[in-house]
Amino acid sequence: MTQYTKPFFALTALALLLLTGACGSKNNNAIANRKVSFNSNWQFHLNDSIKDNDTIGTATQWRTLNLPHDWSIEGSFDEHSPAGTGGGALNGGLGWYKKSFTVEAKDSAKVTTILFDGAYCNSSVWVNGHFLGMRPNGYISFRYNLTPYLNYGDKKNEIIVKVDNSKQPNSRWYSGSGIYRNVWLETTDKLHIAANGTFVTTPQVSAEKATINLQIIIKNEYAEEKTAKVITTIYKDDSEVTSVETEVKIPANSDKTITQDAAVNNPVLWNVETPELYRAVTAVKLDGDMADSYETPFGIREFKFDLDKGFILNGKQVKIKGVCLHHDLGALGSAFNTRAMERQLEIMREMGVNGIRTSHNPPAPELLDLCDKMGFIVMDEAYDMWAQGKNPYDYSKNWDKWHKTDLEDLIIRDRNHPSVFMWSIGNEIPEQWSDKGAEIGRELSAIVKALDKTRPVTAAMNPPVAVNATEASIQFVNTADKPNSLAASGALDIIGYNYAHQVWAKHKINFPKVAFIATETTSALQTRGYYDEKSDVEKLWPVRWDIPFYDGNPGNTVSAYDQTHAPWGSTHEDTWRIIKKHDYLAGMYIWTGFDYIGEPTPYLWPSISSYFGVVDLAGFPKDVYYMYQSEWTDKDVLHIFPHWNWKAGQEVDVWAYYNHADEVELYLNGKSLGKKSKQGDELHIMWSVKYEPGTLKAVSRKGGKVVLEKEIKTVGAPAQLKATADRTEIKADGTDLSFITVDIQDANGIFAATANNEITFSVKGNAKIVGVCSGDPVSHEPYKGNKHTALNGKCLVIIQSTDKAGKVEVTASANGLKASTVNLTTK
Ligand code: GAL
Repeated sequence: MTQYTKPFFALTALALLLLTGACGSKNNNAIANRKVSFNSNWQFHLNDSIKDNDTIGTATQWRTLNLPHDWSIEGSFDEHSPAGTGGGALNGGLGWYKKSFTVEAKDSAKVTTILFDGAYCNSSVWVNGHFLGMRPNGYISFRYNLTPYLNYGDKKNEIIVKVDNSKQPNSRWYSGSGIYRNVWLETTDKLHIAANGTFVTTPQVSAEKATINLQIIIKNEYAEEKTAKVITTIYKDDSEVTSVETEVKIPANSDKTITQDAAVNNPVLWNVETPELYRAVTAVKLDGDMADSYETPFGIREFKFDLDKGFILNGKQVKIKGVCLHHDLGALGSAFNTRAMERQLEIMREMGVNGIRTSHNPPAPELLDLCDKMGFIVMDEAYDMWAQGKNPYDYSKNWDKWHKTDLEDLIIRDRNHPSVFMWSIGNEIPEQWSDKGAEIGRELSAIVKALDKTRPVTAAMNPPVAVNATEASIQFVNTADKPNSLAASGALDIIGYNYAHQVWAKHKINFPKVAFIATETTSALQTRGYYDEKSDVEKLWPVRWDIPFYDGNPGNTVSAYDQTHAPWGSTHEDTWRIIKKHDYLAGMYIWTGFDYIGEPTPYLWPSISSYFGVVDLAGFPKDVYYMYQSEWTDKDVLHIFPHWNWKAGQEVDVWAYYNHADEVELYLNGKSLGKKSKQGDELHIMWSVKYEPGTLKAVSRKGGKVVLEKEIKTVGAPAQLKATADRTEIKADGTDLSFITVDIQDANGIFAATANNEITFSVKGNAKIVGVCSGDPVSHEPYKGNKHTALNGKCLVIIQSTDKAGKVEVTASANGLKASTVNLTTK
């Protein structure tokens, strides 16, 4: 978000700024932080049934809570939920929020705005009885001007928000319900920079110099003309780089866009390894006094999608190794939490991921802030459907009235983020095979270009060209034998392929003039820690889709070996092999980085969450994570699986992912089972081993020297728990989180890879449990609670601080097992 004023900025520009309390205030020479959190102390009421009268009254029961809030995640999984298993079998409904607040008398001369980062969905907002507006889109950020309706001083104000997610199904995945993102109150002088009112571009970038262009909208809400002095200072870290000053006269009640140009010598460029950021801090002065100050973080980088070389960033070819993410945060549901999001990105980064696709909707603004800081190549996506729907009550119903506004708001909000490299105008749009698809595609592309000419437009198509039956390794019904009008429309700067790996290598023949991106790939199915007794390729390949799709329940677990995928998809290895091979294939976004709630395709109830993730719902990596790590990072990798608890004499396939070595030797109880190395473009090696209990050990060597050693051991009966926190020191701010992993072990500390004990959690001190999860896609135990059954030896508990600092003790216990305690400090 551009208007996000960070504390470190407050320090550097202290001469200009004076930070004040809740609603902000201004004295002659200082300006308050214009945006403050408006998350705390809301009242909430859920109408239990869609038949309920959708009003509130004096008898309404309210509960106090802080936002962000997702009421669906608090419910129970319900086989007959109108949301279906696609929606995670969790109910929507209709929720009411209200909050009373005061605004200081001195702010009566100012402009006060409320900003919602997102509410799912159909939100209506009133302040002091005045209707402010209704917004159907559950993912878009929106704001209302409160100024004309506010009471100032001691007199209270009341804001009421109705969120209507009762018409179901309206989503193909779990959406969550409620005000699930942050809410802010913004207070500015009547002379101020408009909402999202800066646009920073870097028209020329070289090692010696970058030119910076700023378009800034200054708004004058005074009843008379004002002359504003607009000074933009560019900072790198805390040092001032350059500054530009402009004077502009703005008539009463109107706005003006000014242009400022600056240059940065020897710029430090943003890239995925060192995502260097600059800040443009714009001060608006009125009669010598500071009226407004507004910060826009940005990056200096130059890129193109090249027909031969793929994605080029600052003159260097970079393969996009991306993942698609849905917006839920596992056990936290959709309630946004910056630390939970950051953890997801950290886990992805460890795997070697450098790209994120915000499938299939505008993300929380903080996701892009994190991607800016951490160095991800973001494909920012607008829609999962246009005028033609995919579900009875989805966004298609609002298409005609809202699509232009929603798309414009997305582009204007996100176009300063250096991490955003592509706009996707839609995912698997049903109109793509008709003239209508070309027409809407051109319209949307023009909307984007009018607001941002610096980034290409793509669409995730399935697929852009026909895949015929001989190319397809398996046959499946796909309308791709019809010409894809959207792909041919000229609306797209990059052809986006969802799946269809069979035709990627023919891209230059099919689309000689338009670059390539695999917008969505793979859709492989895995359950962490579950292994078929023998990974018989013949048995599993091409896929186990001899089972009726969407018809009956074929089973709820799939093997962690990389062999099973949706008919439209491909194995992880096959997918990456093709992208890796050809320079002109700019990169790929795997479906998906993390498992998500809902869409357990191909399974039905009792499955309630997806199987597509490289990482499970709790954040525990599945085995194939290490295949990517061996290919996508510089780390030394050696990962062997499965576990080592089988029936005596049974044949077990042992796989290894490795890198940086010429060979790997496998030993069972000290006896060598032979050396192997990857041949050609292989991405793993395999031994067929007759099981005997004991220790399986792999050693990778390069030039005869040991690179890594890994052991897996036959485990005894579960005897103890081992709890480990990702961070033992967290902020005492009421939002920060510690993610604690609990492993089940035997008496010798060996990981119990098949144990599924129920674990109970208790907390002493100023913190609380906000989520429990094992990553099990068929578990119906609530994510909110203090106990959960482990899946294949592991369970997660998420602890949140309060605003009181202190010591916290978290204990995990289970019947008959030794408990384990983690000590945290909140500061
Ligand atoms: C794609 C779709 C995704 C997800 C995936 C599952 O076709 O774009 O949203 O449904 O299939 O394989």
